[in-house]
Amino acid sequence: QVSWKLADHPTLPKGKTLALIVLDGWGEYKPDEYNCIHVAQTPTMDSLKQGAPEKWRLIRAHGKAVGLPTEDDMGNSEVGHNALGAGRIFAQGAKLVDIALASGKIYEGEGFNYISECFEKGTLHLIGLLSDGGVHSRLDQLQLLLKGASERGAKRIRVHILTDGRDVLDGSSVGFVETLESDLAKLRENGVDARIASGGGRMYVTMDRYENDWDVVKRGWDAQVRGEAPHKFTNAVEAVKKLRENANDQYLPPFVIVDENEKAVGPIEDGDAVVTFNFRADRMVMLAKALEHQDFDKFDRVKVPKIRYAGMLQYDGELKLPGHYLVSPPEIDRTSGEYLVHNGVRTFACSETVKFGHVTFFWNGNRSGYFNPEMEEYAEIPSDVGITFNVQPKMKALEIGEKARDAILSRKFDQVRVNIPNGDMVGHTGDIQATVVACKAADEAVKMIIDAIEQVGGIYVVTADHGNAEDMVKRNKSGQPLYDKSGKLQILTSHTCQPVPIAIGGPGLAAGVRFRNDVPDGGLANVAATVMNLHGYVAPNDYEPTLIEVVNN
Ligand code: 3PG
Ligand code: CO
Repeated sequence: QVSWKLADHPTLPKGKTLALIVLDGWGEYKPDEYNCIHVAQTPTMDSLKQGAPEKWRLIRAHGKAVGLPTEDDMGNSEVGHNALGAGRIFAQGAKLVDIALASGKIYEGEGFNYISECFEKGTLHLIGLLSDGGVHSRLDQLQLLLKGASERGAKRIRVHILTDGRDVLDGSSVGFVETLESDLAKLRENGVDARIASGGGRMYVTMDRYENDWDVVKRGWDAQVRGEAPHKFTNAVEAVKKLRENANDQYLPPFVIVDENEKAVGPIEDGDAVVTFNFRADRMVMLAKALEHQDFDKFDRVKVPKIRYAGMLQYDGELKLPGHYLVSPPEIDRTSGEYLVHNGVRTFACSETVKFGHVTFFWNGNRSGYFNPEMEEYAEIPSDVGITFNVQPKMKALEIGEKARDAILSRKFDQVRVNIPNGDMVGHTGDIQATVVACKAADEAVKMIIDAIEQVGGIYVVTADHGNAEDMVKRNKSGQPLYDKSGKLQILTSHTCQPVPIAIGGPGLAAGVRFRNDVPDGGLANVAATVMNLHGYVAPNDYEPTLIEVVNN
């Protein structure tokens, strides 16, 4: 039985309106021409930085500080928002899958047992993101799974690949496909009929999120399940090389691999097993619904094979989706949102579609819906659909700012929480000029929200979930930009391992509140206790320590 009542903070008052602003993909890095945050005009964020060290500092947002396997793992929005919301560090999907594969437990669980019953007569299909990005999936995990499944009876395997170029360098897809092809060739030598069956770029095929654009999932469905796509190839490496002539890895059009009679080699059929091998939920949950829900109606599936489906993880604990999975997800319980609702803190959360689930679903420990609809309101601003965000780098930043402002001025909420996506979503396109525009727009949205906080005498907390826009090139160990063989600058579309800023302020911030200097390694998970303090409460004992202290002047 959880005791939800939080102790009163010894000195900090309750009832101040608090704005909690998460800048997505906004890290701190040395100022040079590839640091878009530095290049952009960001007067609001610059002025907050002036408050260092008492009102501004850096916190860790990657690696072990957010539950990832190693210090080389860049941060990402899932683990970042999980840590921000939950106030503790949980071993994340990437790590849990590593452990399950290393111990072999993955093959002993209910999920593997369930799908393996199809191995005798059916095909095992593996669908997911093909890269070593470690954000949604990892190639080495796929390799182990291929090996493990074939050793345990899978005789016919089809892999449906989604090319990356977003968590890894653009163009790296070719190498990943070559690696996979050589693994599959080895399996074939050992008598397993293993092949790539279909593919497409992650942003155009399958991996949409938060129901922004079901067409993305449909394109994948047609290729993976029906064996239909506008492009047909007999070889996946060739397919990717050819399609890259007109698109980058993220946006490759869907293709299917066909035999010499033009027949698709691996559509999903009755009696087959399907595994989606991404461990991260947001961009797999839509496909999971299409695979699992009988009454699915988001697009016409045309063909609905009777399959046994398992996710690498269960993607949504509340919806129990999918019902079968290979590895149990982290149990992120007792999140700050749930505590605050129990203690009477009325909450408003807002972002645009592409990041909406970040400040709700991820924030609340991968849980969809409200804890208490009477205490919470979540507002989603529809994202632009069918464009890459370098074309509209301002995205919906101002609309998010306005919604937050209105929520603050309404005085109906104690916490107004937003995610401002620009630095991240535009940073992922690798378009430096557009990312500069994006950062400026994000800064303007912050200003709008801080101005509203000034009006109501509230408090603001401004932070970020991980780095992205502050570094747009791949670098060597000493920080020099790297060029490829043809002398082209290697653009970094991915996140980074940089720390992120956190700033506190506003007229409602009690005198004497400042950042402590005895938590130098503080990270995103320390923010929840900090915010609870600013709402007038002491965080639960097992939360990571608060970043602030109150000194008597
Ligand atoms: C994506 O899904 O867009 C990227 O892989 C990671 O971005 P995010 O972690 O910022 O959502
Ligand atoms: Co991102």
